[in-house]
Amino acid sequence: MQIGTFRCDVPLFLAPMAGYTDRAARLICRRFGADFVESEMVSARALVYQDRKSAPLARLLKDELPGAVQLFGSDPAVIAEAAKIVSAGTAGGVAPTAIDLNFGCPVRKIVSNGEGSALMRTPKKIWEIVSAVVKATPLPVTVKIRAGWDANEKNAAECARAAEAAGCAAIFLHARTRSQFYSGSADLAVIAEVKQAVQVPVVGNGDIVSAESALRMLRETGCDGLMVGRAAVGCPFLFREIRAAVNGEPVPSVTPAERLAAALAQLDLAIADKGERVAVMESRKQAAQYLFGLRDAASYRREICEAKSREEVANILKRALLKEE
Ligand SMILES: Cc1cc2nc3c(=O)[nH]c(=O)nc-3n(C[C@H](O)[C@H](O)[C@H](O)COP(=O)(O)O)c2cc1C
Repeated sequence: MQIGTFRCDVPLFLAPMAGYTDRAARLICRRFGADFVESEMVSARALVYQDRKSAPLARLLKDELPGAVQLFGSDPAVIAEAAKIVSAGTAGGVAPTAIDLNFGCPVRKIVSNGEGSALMRTPKKIWEIVSAVVKATPLPVTVKIRAGWDANEKNAAECARAAEAAGCAAIFLHARTRSQFYSGSADLAVIAEVKQAVQVPVVGNGDIVSAESALRMLRETGCDGLMVGRAAVGCPFLFREIRAAVNGEPVPSVTPAERLAAALAQLDLAIADKGERVAVMESRKQAAQYLFGLRDAASYRREICEAKSREEVANILKRALLKEE
């Protein structure tokens, strides 16, 4: 499939996850085989009004590419203005490969502003926003949608057609409804339906947690690419595993030493990006995820929550992971 200059057979995408897919996470996933990454979602309005925190959130560096900056908002003119800002690269970063528009966020604060998944209730508004952004930027514009609002309103195909008619380059589809948030299971039939409804590439997302579930997503939906979210947090190796499975090769396993090296590398990338204090604090939700499935994981996690320095986090990870060897 293709998104602008990005071409790949069955590409693997790291899903945008606010609070998780920061630069360090994106770089580590790229190293282990994510073909394309996304920024965390960025408020178009905040970017346009030069909010101090937003430009850094929308900043991609060359090593991260191919990748997209994701914008959310509801006013076509404001999102178009933000797309212009992002197209040039923000806060000293480079231009992204694409601009992604968020029509899937289920959070009440976002939805009550008429943003995120609320926009799926008015496909015409999706058309207006995508049209305005396509006109404002030379970059390809993608959209990320859900299956629909709730079980009675699964209108992903209609929204996908509206986005396609407005000129979008690809569709990322998280096959849960807004009312499901992140629970229940993704409805793969909706992805298959959307794939039939549009000509642009469709990327399947939701519940890919293993090479097996990735193959199932491909088989049951006919989607063009795969997007992985939660299961990649603390497990960038999943991209390598999925790639092997897609290529029909044996799925490689991960050694505890490799897990440790990746956790430390991610921690160091985060320190380089955000400084030690913030990176160490955030290792509660980043480094700690590398301990998933270990005996005593909970007690090591508690220790990480108390850690004050890179050295302390590193020592806890070493004790936890090397003990497993
Ligand atoms: C903590 C968290 C933050 C998320 N933030 C975003 C976001 O900023 N933009 C977006 O489009 N989706 C966001 N999502 C949704 C994911 O991109 C993805 O669609 C969803 O988690 C389903 O994929 P998964 O089952 O592989 O995790 C977020 C999900 C989680 C759990």
